[in-house]
Amino acid sequence: MIGIKDSQLVKNFSYINGSWHPSATEGSSDIDVTNPATGELVAKVSNAGIAETELAVRAAKNSFKMWSAKSANERATLMRNWFNLMMEHQDDLGRILTLEQGKPLAEAKGEIAYGAAFIEWFAEEGKRVYGDTIPAPSTDKRIIVIKQPIGVVAAITPWNFPNAMIARKAAAALSAGCTFVVRPATQTPLSALAMAELAERAGIPAGVFNVVVGDDARGMGKVLTEHPDIAKFTFTGSTPVGKSLISQCASTVKKVSMELGGNAPFIVFDDADIDAAIAGAMVSKYRNAGQTCVCTNRIFVQEGVLAEFTEKFIAAVEELKIGNGLIDGVTIGPMINANAVKDVAKLVDDSVAAGAKIVLGGKKGENENFYLPTILTGVTNDMPAASNEIFGPVSPIITFKDESEVIAMANDTEYGLAAYFYSRDIGRIWRVAEGLEYGMVGINEGLISNAAAPFGGVKQSGNGREGSKYGLDDFLEIKYLCMGGLDK
Ligand code: SIN
Repeated sequence: MIGIKDSQLVKNFSYINGSWHPSATEGSSDIDVTNPATGELVAKVSNAGIAETELAVRAAKNSFKMWSAKSANERATLMRNWFNLMMEHQDDLGRILTLEQGKPLAEAKGEIAYGAAFIEWFAEEGKRVYGDTIPAPSTDKRIIVIKQPIGVVAAITPWNFPNAMIARKAAAALSAGCTFVVRPATQTPLSALAMAELAERAGIPAGVFNVVVGDDARGMGKVLTEHPDIAKFTFTGSTPVGKSLISQCASTVKKVSMELGGNAPFIVFDDADIDAAIAGAMVSKYRNAGQTCVCTNRIFVQEGVLAEFTEKFIAAVEELKIGNGLIDGVTIGPMINANAVKDVAKLVDDSVAAGAKIVLGGKKGENENFYLPTILTGVTNDMPAASNEIFGPVSPIITFKDESEVIAMANDTEYGLAAYFYSRDIGRIWRVAEGLEYGMVGINEGLISNAAAPFGGVKQSGNGREGSKYGLDDFLEIKYLCMGGLDK
């Protein structure tokens, strides 16, 4: 593969129980992994199915006793090795990621560091799974609380962060003492398989971290959500798919955590530092070509600064260089595929039909996978580009008059993942931060994701938190021990 120094990082088979498995499914044809920037074939990956998924669950089940019995320190040492290897191979991993996902190389390498940071962070945090003692209601008893790993964890992860979304889940699971099976997106399996290769080199025992790659989303998803040996299921993806996976998990009462869709408001008040707001809007909107769940979806600008903000924002967006992420200087890549471009184009066209105005972009780029960075003005909160999750490089600008109006508009959505606002008034900062119905709020900041912080949403954006000390809770069971008969 072009420019990869360590060719052993490029794998074509699922990784199950410490070995590489070609598909056993009769007649299954390989999965083509293509470069979204060029349409060129990057690699072929063997297409696993239900049988391999069941095998991986069995492997994770069989290795759970061994892995959970290790001390937190032993697990931390192996995870630290994994972190070190990921950072050592950051260039290769970044290149693989760009080739299959499309984001610019610098951003892809940033994702590798972001993913590795979860492994480093949870390796340490696993040492701090504290229990509790609670004063008992009578003198003959003692109440003790211990925390134990929940068991086998299954995950389904998306194509927009092919490394970090796996790392964020697996790191928490492994550090808690759980074993792990992931089905990565079929568009971007190479990053997941490279992570498995490095997990093996790090000394993570067979069966602890398993990757099954296959296009039978329904069949494999059914195993991962309904298998009785899986204790917990975790998903990052769209809200409609999340809802149906939650209902499948009900049959075995699995613990679930869901990181689903968003419709992030980005609010600029009259008193904001406009240059800082522009920088924040650029990173929160155009990171990964607008394809993140926490991407700004609606930009609300107060009347007094509308002209200044819009003019400066157009100038900043015009500076973006769109193209193949492997080319030096490119700052925004393609979208994942032509269907994603079509969906975004439709939201723009429908909003224009409803009265919005295109002031920049608004059309396809060099091939069917590119959509130009776009700005719409004159948007209202009920237009398609504002009421739907865009998941693309489009910024709808909506004007507002006052604080209570904008809070009401910002909250007028079923989503509640991330929100951002810019203000220098301390009273307003508290009022707005508390008034926004979102799991995460960036205040004078457009980039809020990091390993130490609790990532997650409210309302239909999901449940559970990833990263931070709270991120371990989803992988642990609380056990209450009641010791009685203690009085003389
Ligand atoms: C996502 O889009 O699901 C994750 C974005 C992030 O971790 O910042």
